[in-house]
Amino acid sequence: MELTIALAKGRLAKFAIDLFSRCGIDTSELEEDTRKLVVYDKKNELRFILVKPADVPVYVYRGVADIGIAGKDTLLEAGLPLYEMLDLKCGKCKMCVAGYAEKQNDRITSTITRVATKYPRVAKMYYDEKGEDIEIIKLNGSIELAPILDLSDVIVDIVESGTTIRENGLAILEDVCDISARLVVNQVSLKTKSAKIQPLIAKLGCALEDM
Ligand code: PRP
Repeated sequence: MELTIALAKGRLAKFAIDLFSRCGIDTSELEEDTRKLVVYDKKNELRFILVKPADVPVYVYRGVADIGIAGKDTLLEAGLPLYEMLDLKCGKCKMCVAGYAEKQNDRITSTITRVATKYPRVAKMYYDEKGEDIEIIKLNGSIELAPILDLSDVIVDIVESGTTIRENGLAILEDVCDISARLVVNQVSLKTKSAKIQPLIAKLGCALEDM
């Protein structure tokens, strides 16, 4: 019974490779500097697929991958029903509302807040919970530019070291939620392949404690 694991290309993949290798999984093909998108640990009947971070939940939800590793930001934004089985406690950062602190008081309260973000779903959920109507401006990067150029009043974005916010003269106004990498499992796979998935998750959990 083969398991397919979707990994987000980039920083998270490095952490995941280290974690898998600590569990006795052969990660040699994953460590090779190639452009291959599918690699194997044949002995352990594992297939790894390398995808864009935002696509990890899609592959897992559709059952093409049984397991995926993705940031909580990506998972919240995807909003798909997946089982979140492990908090890998890496890639830690915060989802925040940021902007010019002083400008917020000057704004006429009856005007709708313009929110620039890469995470429209997360932003909407957050403001819905507060009962506040907002206008979302979806951007794909360099979000901090939006309030600087008055494209938006605030941004909803991830803050890691705080450098980008600071160097662009902005401030954190509100914390939305904590973010870290999570291991997610397809809901059907967890039932049909539990004999293989559960022991793997247990091993990964133990390896995590030693990291
Ligand atoms: C992310 C995020 C912030 C920055 C936060 O952007 O959108 O801009 O990192 O990190 P910091 O608090 O450590 O400065 P990313 O680097 O992914 O680039 P992007 O602007 O292209 O989205």
